Amino acid sequence: MSDSKPTLAILGGSGDLGGGLAFRWARAGYPVIIGSRSADKAREAAAALAARVSAGDVRGLDNQAAAAAGDIVVLTVPFANQAPTLEAVKAPVQGKILIDVTVPLVPPKVGTVQLPAGGSAGQIAQSLLGEGVRVVSAFQNVAAAHLEDPDHDPDCDVLVCGNDADACQQVLVLVAAAGMKGWHAGPIANAVVAEALTSVLITLNRRYKIPGAGFRITGTPQA
Ligand SMILES: NC(=O)c1ccc[n+]([C@@H]2O[C@H](COP(=O)([O-])OP(=O)(O)OC[C@H]3O[C@@H](n4cnc5c(N)ncnc54)[C@H](OP(=O)(O)O)[C@@H]3O)[C@@H](O)[C@H]2O)c1
Repeated sequence: MSDSKPTLAILGGSGDLGGGLAFRWARAGYPVIIGSRSADKAREAAAALAARVSAGDVRGLDNQAAAAAGDIVVLTVPFANQAPTLEAVKAPVQGKILIDVTVPLVPPKVGTVQLPAGGSAGQIAQSLLGEGVRVVSAFQNVAAAHLEDPDHDPDCDVLVCGNDADACQQVLVLVAAAGMKGWHAGPIANAVVAEALTSVLITLNRRYKIPGAGFRITGTPQA
């Protein structure tokens, strides 16, 4: 990758978390492609984002075209649609980093950890796409609403898990660009922790009336 900022293709970027990440990254100067099942919907979402980020480089494409055009591809769709969406872009993402934000929630009991047979969404993505794609799991524990607020960075750290250290390092840069502190937390097998933690945070939100709980790593030398 060159010194210039990579183009970020956000599949499902018309939605809550993808839209929030798109806003943060466009504002930080990254070229952003909103991906959608519908090219028209993608263009509409991109136009709305461009209106918020005046100098932003933003466009909308269908998911397959977005995956082909992006340097780094970000998957932001519900878990029930993770596998079919990945199958549809399996060819164009080969050789790239794919950031998976999927949390394997099983409605209606989203406050209860219910892990999938494949171990975790991150492991499912890596297994489905194959070793030609560097899957990195991140952003499971940040509430989308916090990303939308332009005046406050989310009060939340981000666990970054993946089998390729360079890919994780590139994602840590994107975490910082989105206004958060990221931690390389080990291989993709460890993504299960961040995914399960989301149900715990949802439970805390409900019990303690928190508008989007997050977590912090403490005890660091910098703290
Ligand atoms: N929301 C949060 O605060 C949050 C926080 C952490 C992690 N997450 C995770 O991030 C992912 C996205 O969450 P979200 O809240 O942003 O979801 P969302 O807004 O409900 O959906 C995101 C996008 O997914 C696409 N989509 C919806 N149904 C689909 C289907 N049947 N097949 C293929 N694509 C479909 C839609 O895009 P198009 O219609 O444009 O194709 C939609 O805009 C989930 O896995 C979630 O667990 C969310």
